Amino acid sequence: MSKQFESKKETVSFLNKSYDGNSPLISQRANYENLENQYKKLADRTKTLEQVYKFHKGIVQNISAGIITIDFNADITFINTSALLVAEYTFKELVNTPLKNLFVDKEEANVIIDALINKRSMFESKEVNLQTRTGKIIPIGFSSTFLKNQNSAYEGVIISFRDLTNLISFRTQIERMDRLATLGEVSAGIAHEIRNPLAGIKTSAQVLEESFGPGDFRAELVKRLVKEIDRSNELLKKFFNFARPGKPKFDYTQVEMLVDGVYLLLASKMKKKNIIFTKIFADDLPEVYVDENQIEQVLINLYMNAIDAMHDGGKLVVRTSQMEQKIKEDRQTMVRVDIEDSGFGIDTKNMERIFNPFFTTKSDGVGLGLSISSRLIEENGGKMEVQSTVGKGTKFSLYLPIQVK
Ligand SMILES: Nc1ncnc2c1ncn2[C@@H]1O[C@H](COP(=O)(O)OP(=O)(O)OP(=O)(O)O)[C@@H](O)[C@H]1O
Ligand SMILES: [Mg+2]
Repeated sequence: MSKQFESKKETVSFLNKSYDGNSPLISQRANYENLENQYKKLADRTKTLEQVYKFHKGIVQNISAGIITIDFNADITFINTSALLVAEYTFKELVNTPLKNLFVDKEEANVIIDALINKRSMFESKEVNLQTRTGKIIPIGFSSTFLKNQNSAYEGVIISFRDLTNLISFRTQIERMDRLATLGEVSAGIAHEIRNPLAGIKTSAQVLEESFGPGDFRAELVKRLVKEIDRSNELLKKFFNFARPGKPKFDYTQVEMLVDGVYLLLASKMKKKNIIFTKIFADDLPEVYVDENQIEQVLINLYMNAIDAMHDGGKLVVRTSQMEQKIKEDRQTMVRVDIEDSGFGIDTKNMERIFNPFFTTKSDGVGLGLSISSRLIEENGGKMEVQSTVGKGTKFSLYLPIQVK
């Protein structure tokens, strides 16, 4: 050391100065170490940021809800995988396109977009219909929140939604069953109330009949009265059974037998109307586990509706097959029976209503056939679907269970 220090204090002060950067060699090294440290920290932070980014991206992409963000022009700026799956588009096809294109009802879309962008309103569980690439209409429930940047400035809107198809079909099913249960109770009550006084009227009429001598024309009138009472009783009994079917008596049976049996019942009706009946049975179809009388009742209703839908002849095709089906969260192998007619079809606006009790478009219809049938199928552990094209025809598909649950 060239410099001489007089005191220990001076020595310490010199060393401190050197480390403070006054010595070029030591200071360069310190700077280098410092830089290296900072670089390491930066690399660590970048890695953490990348992980956070991937984590958030993973959440947004894999979440079951559909997520769409839009800008001030209501153009889509981001759309996640779930939303793309529902809409049946790719990211590239939708990004930078107007959100409005996805709505079925464009006027409703205008109102909603105006509320979101101009009025800055937020939505909570609003139900609308989306139109997919292949033209399917998907009911969705959406909620919205504002999209803000780091400075809390408003940048657009985040829309998160759920596909409500299953929920809505479940809801309509419950409503239908509710209505049917009420209908069953009410009609059972009415039938019962009418049958009681009828029994009284019948007894009195029979006593009256005996009071007239043989050959008296009044005795003949009373006899007719009793006959009419019996007929009304029969009708009430039928309605009673129809509106409130008993619990299914399950057993194994061949669905082919039911299809044929019901055809025989209605063959002459079909012949009269020039309807050609064709059956296409799958090989090795397992037996179904159902109440055969109830399934027969369903087939009668469906055949009758098909016959009613074909005015100047046509085709009625019954096809059986076997397939996997989801019934109340369970996947099961089921027997499917398609009953397809070439009739006038069902108007789209009526599609929702055909299973409602008393919905009919026929002058002599009661409107109970399909509502009772869908309930019977459900009680037998199956399900019923319908597809129809106006002017072309209608296909009802029944899915029936093959094993004891
Ligand atoms: N195969 C079909 N083709 C065309 N329309 C159909 C068909 N099946 C049902 N429908 C429509 O659905 C409505 C309801 O059918 P549903 O069987 O419940 O009652 P309905 O046939 O009118 O009376 P009913 O109680 O005597 O059966 C019918 O009135 C008809 O408009
Ligand atoms: Mg009917």
